[in-house]
Amino acid sequence: MFTSLRLPLIGLLSLTLAHTALAADCAPDQGHGAQVFANECAVCHSVTKGMTGMMGPNLAGVVGRKSGSLEGFNYSQAMRSKDINWQAENIAQLITQPQAFVPGTYMPYMGLASADDRQAVVCFLKEQQ
Ligand code: HEC
Repeated sequence: MFTSLRLPLIGLLSLTLAHTALAADCAPDQGHGAQVFANECAVCHSVTKGMTGMMGPNLAGVVGRKSGSLEGFNYSQAMRSKDINWQAENIAQLITQPQAFVPGTYMPYMGLASADDRQAVVCFLKEQQ
């Protein structure tokens, strides 16, 4: 008699989990994402519009930008031919393990292990338009 109740519940639960894994929702950030960016990314990337001369491409406006497309930046062939539009989800995939997501990339970064930190930093990037 419980089966009929339990099934929809399990369905709801797995939907919720799948949703979280997609890194789609951004709760008010309260500085966590900015902190992760400062610790993990800022050594190579700037989010100050127009700033050049760093090892990585400027990430102001990266959400919604085509991969490997920032004018004047010398991307790897791998990144230039990746041909995706950067969104929270695929940036989270990139920073999980860059060499796995874009084999041959110049981004010399081992990956960010914490899903919480990945979520926070992509939400931070969404705000840097
Ligand atoms: C040690 C330097 C370094 C670190 C640290 C680093 N990156 Fe990168 N990143 C690069 C380089 C270099 C590229 C260009 C890769 C290529 O051309 O293959 C890149 C490319 C990217 C791109 C693609 C941009 C585009 O215009 O297509 C994104 C998004 C990105 N990085 C996000 C991040 C985030 C977020 C972090 C921190 C969690 C991070 N990176 C940490 C060096 C770095």
